[in-house]
Amino acid sequence: MSPIHPSLALLAGAAKRKNWSGLQKQFAAALRNPAWLRAEHRIGDPTGYMRHLLYVDPHGDFCMTAITWLPGQVSPRHGHQVWCAFGVAEGELTEEQFDKDLNLLKTSTLAAGQLADRDLEGSIIHRVANRGDKPLVSLHLYGVSGDRLTTGINRYF
Ligand SMILES: [Fe+2]
Repeated sequence: MSPIHPSLALLAGAAKRKNWSGLQKQFAAALRNPAWLRAEHRIGDPTGYMRHLLYVDPHGDFCMTAITWLPGQVSPRHGHQVWCAFGVAEGELTEEQFDKDLNLLKTSTLAAGQLADRDLEGSIIHRVANRGDKPLVSLHLYGVSGDRLTTGINRYF
């Protein structure tokens, strides 16, 4: 894995220390000035939302990914096995949150620069979508090791 982009270094430091107030602040900064965002992050994959790995903590404490969502793409409804935090770098994101009986609790629309509710306890059940007409790029941090990235994050209902 290549070294971290300098614009994500402070965010990674806060994630490493599980400094949640620092994480909130550095997350907002990384979304306001997404120097880490590369041209390919705007392209996406027509068959489904696409994860781009940005950084893997060498001790397995967390991973940082960009996710590209083309218009109309949507995640499955899911919860998390690990802590997670995410926000919007470009485009507009729609998040629906559900209670444990899968009733819809709320729907939020997040613009570029905005952070979603953090899920530190793995208690949030949600579904994320791009309901806009332009690509959406979101930034995600997960308290998971790189080797468990594909299987160790989500819980499905
Ligand atoms: Fe999620």
